[in-house]
Amino acid sequence: MKTLWIILFGCCAILPFETYALMAANNDLGDQASLRRGAQYYSQYCLSCHGLQYQRYRTVAHDLAIDKHTLRRSIIIDPNVRWTEPMQSVLSKQNMQEWLGVAAPDLSLVTKQHSVDWLYTYLHQFYRDEQRPLGVNNLLVPNVMMPNVLEWLQGSQVAVRKEQGQMTLSASSTGTLSKAEYDQLVRDLVNYLAYAAEPKQQEQQQLGIWVIGFLLIFTILSLFLKKEYWRDVH
Ligand code: HEC
Repeated sequence: MKTLWIILFGCCAILPFETYALMAANNDLGDQASLRRGAQYYSQYCLSCHGLQYQRYRTVAHDLAIDKHTLRRSIIIDPNVRWTEPMQSVLSKQNMQEWLGVAAPDLSLVTKQHSVDWLYTYLHQFYRDEQRPLGVNNLLVPNVMMPNVLEWLQGSQVAVRKEQGQMTLSASSTGTLSKAEYDQLVRDLVNYLAYAAEPKQQEQQQLGIWVIGFLLIFTILSLFLKKEYWRDVH
């Protein structure tokens, strides 16, 4: 009975967040080109504030087949950082606290903590809000303290209230990318973060297929063996 109450209470607590309609990221962890682009976008647009403490540049380069030149030129931003080091944020926690009022969290596990679709939606739902200290807000994470770093690419949005009282966003100015280009950029970014959350996932899946294949062959072999064996017995 107690368990039932816990489950019921848990569902009620989660419900208001989970009912928000998320957009579908449709990312593909097998798409290496997308992961490589995602790694570059991440370094360009996110790494100044958000580290990936479990990722080393070397591992990323190895896993995604990124050559040393590209790694140096467009992924390791800080020339003083060696490629064997973990991907730490460029700004210190203290600086961010001073400048933004809050330190940006490490994003190593963000796609697990929320989901890939959640992150894809989050990066689509920033809007102008003069009431907020940075002049921006986010529909998915109300009152978030992150600046809208991709606004120049996506364009600006404003919140509009629908008849039912819900809010939706509408574009108020265009960015440098088309809608399809922006969607693809965000898809690459979340794809990369999904990989970063579990770099070995691809390998594990491939290993799983081998194991199943082996078991199948083994079963067929033993069936034949069994037949052979019983033929001699009769
Ligand atoms: C200028 C610094 C800065 C940059 C650049 C930046 N962020 Fe953030 N981000 C923040 C801060 C600060 C927070 C914490 C906001 C809060 O706690 O309200 C945050 C929060 C987040 C969150 C967590 C939201 C939540 O509630 O869990 C996600 C996800 C995120 N950022 C993703 C990104 C991605 C992806 C990029 C790159 C496209 C990026 N950020 C670039 C400063 C930054």
